[in-house]
Amino acid sequence: MKKILEMISDEMKNAFEQAGYDRELGKVTLSNRPDLCEYQCNGAMAGAKQYKKAPIMIANDVAAKLTDSNIFARAEAVAPGFLNLTLKNAFVGAYVKDMRMEEKYGLEETKNPAKIVIDYGGPNVAKPLHVGHLRSAIIGESVKRIARYAGHRVTGDIHLGDWGQPMGLIMNELKIRKPELVYFDENYTGEYPAEPPFTISELEEIYPFASKRSKEDEAYKADAMACTYKLQSGEKGYRALWDHIIAVSVMDLKKNYERLNVAFDLWNGESAVHDMIPGMVDAMKKGGYAYVSEGALVVDVKEETDTKEIPPCMILKSDGAALYNTTDLATIMMRMETEQPDRILYVVDKRQELYFEQVFRCARKTKLVKDDTELKFLGFGTMNGKDGKPFKTREGGVMRLESLIAEINEEMLRKIKESRDTSDEEAAATAQIVGLAALKYGDLSNQAVKDYIFDIDRFTSSEGDTGPYILYTIVRIKSILAKYRENGGDIQSVFSDIKAPVNDSEKQLMMELAKFNASIETACEEYAPHKICAYIYDLANAFNRFYHETKILAEEDASRKAGWIALLGLTRDVLETSIDLLGFSAPDRM
Ligand code: ARG
Repeated sequence: MKKILEMISDEMKNAFEQAGYDRELGKVTLSNRPDLCEYQCNGAMAGAKQYKKAPIMIANDVAAKLTDSNIFARAEAVAPGFLNLTLKNAFVGAYVKDMRMEEKYGLEETKNPAKIVIDYGGPNVAKPLHVGHLRSAIIGESVKRIARYAGHRVTGDIHLGDWGQPMGLIMNELKIRKPELVYFDENYTGEYPAEPPFTISELEEIYPFASKRSKEDEAYKADAMACTYKLQSGEKGYRALWDHIIAVSVMDLKKNYERLNVAFDLWNGESAVHDMIPGMVDAMKKGGYAYVSEGALVVDVKEETDTKEIPPCMILKSDGAALYNTTDLATIMMRMETEQPDRILYVVDKRQELYFEQVFRCARKTKLVKDDTELKFLGFGTMNGKDGKPFKTREGGVMRLESLIAEINEEMLRKIKESRDTSDEEAAATAQIVGLAALKYGDLSNQAVKDYIFDIDRFTSSEGDTGPYILYTIVRIKSILAKYRENGGDIQSVFSDIKAPVNDSEKQLMMELAKFNASIETACEEYAPHKICAYIYDLANAFNRFYHETKILAEEDASRKAGWIALLGLTRDVLETSIDLLGFSAPDRM
């Protein structure tokens, strides 16, 4: 379906043309004086010079061509030469009715579907998820859903941190604590046990312990590095132990991501490309791209136009070990082979921007990707506490994601119980749904690249630009529809009975609804979930205004009432579709 703004602009362009002016002057925008008109066109001002005429004369000529327009109820030329536009109610009603008949409410799927890999999540095994990983998951999931909805073919890959030094640290510490484990016995020839020799809580305790000690104890650190080496060179006991670490961690991670309504298509880790590294390194050497500098193997990635120093990309350390970017480069190589993406999108903390610039340049230079493969970094800012510093627990430690979710759910539960009488069970289930909305909307309503302040009171508030406010609006609509049904109304039979609006708040609501396709398209093109938040916030406001000014269920004119019920149904569907693109859902009652 054509966007409403395009239809309006086309009408205006035709009028410019009919009046003898360049049709491109007929661009229409939303009014910046909503008290005067709904849309405006400033083309007459822009054309004054070209036609050596006073703008108001041009505007008058154009307005004269619009007196019997099907789209504009009023097209007024006002000094010094603006065209103030008001839409016909019948046009707005018909547009929204057409939306209702379309599967995606008027959004046309992209004509150029791309194959996109989104690299997001990026947790590290054996380390608890913390708030730093939260943003990647929330933003990446939404960007993925939006692109998919717009018609692209999208694969989400978690890119687990599962291969580097932390693995050696854990294994070395395990070896100290449980030296009797068969995994450490070089002469062991039997099958390794199927049961892991630790629980997830043990693992999560071991890593920080070992990491801390390695910073204070050189010999300990050297032992851990030796363990990493044994793992990476394929020693079978270490590989078997590693398999357990991965299995236990991944099971825990899946549980956590499920709770966040985040789902990955691929659970590949850095380890998945380990065997590809030697071949890649060889090719980089043979191609003349990689050379040895101070013992390490590097690829230069600086360009003449650089205004700041871009250091070379290090491929292998002087001891031959692979680095974070070695696995990232090999992962690009693997994705090109298995997924053949047109675009790879990385949703990662913006502090890694320079790092990715190096990786991208290196991948291009060494021809790991095709000339037209797009490598795109979508960096996000930090989630800060109320003090403006990176979010911490009350005790000052790194906040575990689980604790954060628990905190927000508790606050939600308190609010729900305060506001109405429900069973504990229902209240707890609702608190989970609304808590997730509070958390995700609080994050996504900010432009990703910006830092934001995590404010539990504001995020869980049912008023203002918040997730719970959007959910309250949806629940309100659901409850009106339920009452209509209880009173014998049949929603299905009035499904598309949308009519021309009869009052201003109804028209405003329709005009907000009509922006759906344009909003989703922009959100997709700009990887900007916050644009969907802004859209649904305006839509929810418009709905609530309509609701407060209209006695829907008490309306006596059955046909008018049916029209409103149909409009409510569409509003609910558009809101629910939008929040699904953001990665959360609404309960039936709140
Ligand atoms: N595991 C990394 C971290 O915790 C994030 C991974 C981001 N993705 C990537 N392809 N490097 O910082």
